[in-house]
Amino acid sequence: MTGQSGNAELNTIIVGDALTVLRQLPDAFVDVTVTSPPYNKGERDRGWLVDRVVYEGARDSKDEAEYQAEQIAVLDEVYRVTRPGGSFFYNHKIRWVRGRLIHPYEWVSQSHWMLRQEIIWHRKIAANIRGWRFWQVDERIYWLYKPRFDGDTIGEELNPRHALLTSVWEIPPERDPRHPNPFPIELPTRCIYSALDGERGVVLDPYCGIGTTLVAAKLLGCDYLGIDISARYAEIARERLQNAGREETRVQAEVALHVVRKTFRERKERGEWVGRFRQNMLLGHEPKERVKQTRFPME
Ligand SMILES: C[S@@+](CC[C@H](N)C(=O)[O-])C[C@H]1O[C@@H](n2cnc3c(N)ncnc32)[C@H](O)[C@@H]1O
Repeated sequence: MTGQSGNAELNTIIVGDALTVLRQLPDAFVDVTVTSPPYNKGERDRGWLVDRVVYEGARDSKDEAEYQAEQIAVLDEVYRVTRPGGSFFYNHKIRWVRGRLIHPYEWVSQSHWMLRQEIIWHRKIAANIRGWRFWQVDERIYWLYKPRFDGDTIGEELNPRHALLTSVWEIPPERDPRHPNPFPIELPTRCIYSALDGERGVVLDPYCGIGTTLVAAKLLGCDYLGIDISARYAEIARERLQNAGREETRVQAEVALHVVRKTFRERKERGEWVGRFRQNMLLGHEPKERVKQTRFPME
């Protein structure tokens, strides 16, 4: 079912260049964006595993300055189309070009977004197996935030059942013969479910590939909008969306991880251990040795 939000048609996929399409979308209609852009990895210039990550319909080899300028423009367009209070989960990774480390923070920090958290995506497997460094098994997910008003630098507190999941996400990469590097569906599910806390909202993925973010959004009861330059990936995404029920089990398994037996507020109200910093602040003394050993105080 398609719908409208402002002038934007929802529950659809637009085939085209992300930046060009984003520029045509109305202001402030998106609640959560989750995406992984092409990484400008130079395709066949480096590591043998990278050779396999070749997209249908797009080259992934640009002048680095041009690439970063384009990514900043995309980040800022997503900022414009996002409602105040909305979130953007932007997945990228650390790369090396002729020995120089290029960190995504270099350009993410130049966008309009408030950087709420840098999440480590521990993939448990190295993409480039080379001998000069320890195996790089992580990627980054930047949780970016659009303030609701001037000076709103933090936003609303995250519901404890999501906050307990920690800032290191151990999720193995997805293997799918239809696309070189799709998200595992648990990843966009975690982003959307944490940010919206079960509420309905509009979810965007401007580099949606075969539509994993969109399937997660649909199964979580949200509206979605996807963009990808490849008509073939978009077609696969549409087919996945039609059969989204097949992926429900994995989405529900991820949702089931978001639990807390006692909330932070409940612990505070009962005078129970709520963490060293808070305890000292609230009661002015050290907690007992036994409770100090609790690894996750809110469990
Ligand atoms: C890392 S993949 C995203 C995969 C996606 N998360 C999924 O689960 O299938 C990046 C995607 O960006 C698309 N792409 C490359 N250049 C693009 C551009 N200029 N505009 C829009 N999409 C582009 C590629 O076709 C590819 O599907």
